[in-house]
Amino acid sequence: MFSELIAGTMRWGIWGANHSERKVQELIEVCLEENITTFDHADIYGNHTTEELFGNAWKEMKIDRERIQLISKCGIVMNSEKKPSTLKYYNYDSDYILNCVNESLSNLKTDYLDLLLLHRPSPLMNPEEIAKVFETLKAEGKVKEFGVSNFSVSQFELLNQYFPLVTNQIELSVNHLDSFDNGTLEQLMIKKLRPMAWSVLGNYFTSNSEQNIRLKKIIKKLCEKYNANENKILLAFILKHPSKIIPVIGTSKVETIRKLKQSLLLDIETMDWFKILEASRGTEVD
Ligand SMILES: NC(=O)c1ccc[n+]([C@@H]2O[C@H](COP(=O)([O-])OP(=O)(O)OC[C@H]3O[C@@H](n4cnc5c(N)ncnc54)[C@H](OP(=O)(O)O)[C@@H]3O)[C@@H](O)[C@H]2O)c1
Repeated sequence: MFSELIAGTMRWGIWGANHSERKVQELIEVCLEENITTFDHADIYGNHTTEELFGNAWKEMKIDRERIQLISKCGIVMNSEKKPSTLKYYNYDSDYILNCVNESLSNLKTDYLDLLLLHRPSPLMNPEEIAKVFETLKAEGKVKEFGVSNFSVSQFELLNQYFPLVTNQIELSVNHLDSFDNGTLEQLMIKKLRPMAWSVLGNYFTSNSEQNIRLKKIIKKLCEKYNANENKILLAFILKHPSKIIPVIGTSKVETIRKLKQSLLLDIETMDWFKILEASRGTEVD
């Protein structure tokens, strides 16, 4: 149902590249050429403006709605010019979720979302109330599937008891490997669900930490061995996990989208995978 790579739009608008509508159309075109048909949004991206930027762009392209899948997220209340708030907090009250979805549909210029994610877990989440809202949204045809993001194993399990979830979108990269040890990936595998991963490049390109110095040493060698760039090796590391992780790629550049697509074909050897794991952890396995 979702493409093997998902295009993350968080940095396409004013939280990143500040692309024009025309440039967003170019990115969408390239994604579709590369069979990246799923686009990841959240109500808050670009201070509540990026969904609208995307919506205006894709609507003019006259793309068949069935050809793309739109994901959005709700639950984080944050201050912006468009939606002022005196506090950043989480809200999963029925009315709030319903209102968020209606706004996302209007901004994205669509009748339905393929997937709605609860953006962050909140101590105040009431699974029964949330399940009722999900049922309403599904019955109205406004949302096809539901999932969560950044949920722990028990938080996922709780909500899933009330309503069948289809994924947990989690942070996962060579710099952030908690999900290898905290049961999240196994939980989804048991349920035959595919995880989605955000920030798959981690802080590899933006921090000179000891961890990254170790990682760069090994990854640069692997670039030569596999005739690949660092982005591809970073992605190939995640893609080798048997839980069939779907990476949400965050680039705002046409050429990087094309290059990353080729990572799907790169299967690094098991020993090389463990070299990266060792560099990430800073210790060899027991
Ligand atoms: N569920 C959640 O809580 C959550 C949280 C955060 C993000 N997300 C989703 O995940 C998506 C991806 O997140 P992300 O943007 O953090 O992911 P990412 O793919 O790890 O990072 C993308 C950033 O790295 C830069 N980059 C790529 N290759 C580079 C290189 N070789 N050297 C230096 N910089 C490089 C990109 O710049 P260019 O644009 O110039 O290529 C872009 O700024 C978001 O768009 C969003 O949809 C979800």
